[in-house]
Amino acid sequence: MAVLIVVCVVVVMLGFCICTALLRWNEVRYRKKGLPPGTMGWPVFGETTEFLKQGPNFMKNQRARYGSFFKSHILGCPTIVSMDPELNRYILLNEGKGLVPGYPQSMLDILGNCNIAAVHGSAHKAMRGSLLAIISPSIIRDQLLPKIDEFMRSYLSNWDGKILDIQERTKEMALLSSFCQIGIASDTKSEAFKAEFYKLVLGTLSLPIKLPGTNYSGGIQARKNIIGILRKIIEERRASSSSQNDMLGGLLKMEDSRYKLSIEEIMDQIITIMYSGYETVSTTSMMALKYLHDHPRALQELREEHIAIRKQKGPDDPIDWNDYRAMKFTRSVIFETMRLATIVNGVLRKTTQDMELNGFVIPKGWRIYVYTRETNYDPFLYPEPLTFNPWRWKDRSLESHQHLMLFGGGSRLCPGKELGIAEISTFLHYFVTRYRWEQVGEDELLKFPRVEAPNGLHIRVSKY
Ligand code: HEM
Repeated sequence: MAVLIVVCVVVVMLGFCICTALLRWNEVRYRKKGLPPGTMGWPVFGETTEFLKQGPNFMKNQRARYGSFFKSHILGCPTIVSMDPELNRYILLNEGKGLVPGYPQSMLDILGNCNIAAVHGSAHKAMRGSLLAIISPSIIRDQLLPKIDEFMRSYLSNWDGKILDIQERTKEMALLSSFCQIGIASDTKSEAFKAEFYKLVLGTLSLPIKLPGTNYSGGIQARKNIIGILRKIIEERRASSSSQNDMLGGLLKMEDSRYKLSIEEIMDQIITIMYSGYETVSTTSMMALKYLHDHPRALQELREEHIAIRKQKGPDDPIDWNDYRAMKFTRSVIFETMRLATIVNGVLRKTTQDMELNGFVIPKGWRIYVYTRETNYDPFLYPEPLTFNPWRWKDRSLESHQHLMLFGGGSRLCPGKELGIAEISTFLHYFVTRYRWEQVGEDELLKFPRVEAPNGLHIRVSKY
C-alpha cells in the first residue's frame, strides 16, 4: 500500500514538473522583445480550451491582468487580442498597412481562393465592387425586396397550431431566401444544394484535418458538389438567351463592365453571399423573436408598426421599399438584438509583415482578434447595457457611432447590411402580423463562441 502511495505521489509530481516545463517552454518560445504581455498556454493547443470554455470571461480576465491588448495562443495560432475600441477601429481602417483578413485555413479552403475574405488589394476591390453592384439600395428596392417578400409570404404560411424549432426554421429561411435572390430555382437542384450547403458550413468551422469522415473533408466534398451544381446552372443560363433580374443574372451581365468576373470568381461570390448572410440573418431573426417574446411592450410597439403598414394595403400587396423605410421601430429592435445577443464577437486579421501596433511589435503572420463584443456592453455608449431597450436606437446617430462594429468597419464593412436588415424586417413583418407565439420549455441558449440553441429553440405558434 505504502509503495502504491509513493508511486502515485511520484507520478503526480512528475506530471506537475512536465506540465510546468511545457508551459514555461511555450512562454519562452514566444518571448520576443516588443510583444504585448499575455500568456501562451500549452504547446500546440495554447489557451484554446480556456478560451472556448470560459468565453467572454477569459477575455475579461486576461484584460484585467494584461490590459486591452494582449497576446495569447488560440485556435491553433499565436494571436493578439485587441479589446480597445480606438485600436480596433484603427486596425479595420488600415488593411493597406498589412492588416488583412485572417480567417482560418479550413474556411478559406472551403469558401474558395477567390472568396472576398481570401483576397486583398485590387482583387478585393473587384470582388467587393461586383457585389455592391448587385445589392445596391436601388437593386434591393426594385429586384431583391419583391423576391424576399414573395418568399417570406409563402415560407411563413401554415405555421398556425404548430410547435416549431425556430432556430432550424430561421436557418432554413435565411438559406432559401438567398436562393431566391441569387436565382436558384426551388426544384430538386435546390434540395441537393441545401444539403450540401449545411455540410459546407460545418466544414468551415472545423479543424483542417483531411481524413475520411471529418467535417473538414465533408466540407471540401460539399464545396466540390456545390461548384458542380452552380456550373450547371450557369451553363444553362448562358445557353438561354433571356437575362434574369436576380443576383446571378447581375453577375453574368457584368461581362462587359469593369467588374467582369471569371466563372470561378462568380461561383465563389455566390458561395460567399450565401455563407455571409446565413448565420447572421438567421441568428438575429431567432434572437429578435426571443427578445420580443420576453418583452411584451416592445412586441406590441413592433406589431403596431407592422399592422399600420398592412392596413394601408390589400391582403396580398407586397412590402415595398417605402414600407421598409417606415419600419423604424423594427430597425431599432434588430440593432438592439444584434447588440445584446452579440451576433458577431469580433473579426480576424493577420499581419503580412512585422509591424508596430500600440507601441508593440507584432510579428509577421500573427493573427489579430479584433474583439468587439465588450463595446456592445459599454455603459457609456449603452446605459444599462444588459437591458433589452430598442428605444435607445431612436437616436439614429447611434447607428453611425465610430465604435459601433456590429457590421465590422473600414474597407470590409459589411456590404450586405441593408439587405440583411431588409430580410429580417420582412420576416418579422409576416411573422408578427400573422402569428402570436410562446416559448415551449426551457431550451438552453449559448452565447459563445457563437449564439446558438444546442437543442433548438421551440415555440408554439398560433394565429394572430
Ligand atoms: C444582417 C446580418 C449581418 C451581420 C451582422 C453581418 C456582419 C458582418 C461583419 C461583422 C462583417 C465584417 C467581417 C470582417 O471585417 O472580416 C461582414 C462582412 C461581410 N458581409 Fe455581412 N453581415 C450580415 C449580413 C450579410 C448579408 C445578408 C450578406 C450578403 C450579401 C453579407 C455579406 C458580407 C460580405 C461579402 C462580407 C465581406 C466584405 C469584405 O470582405 O469586403 N453580410 N458582415
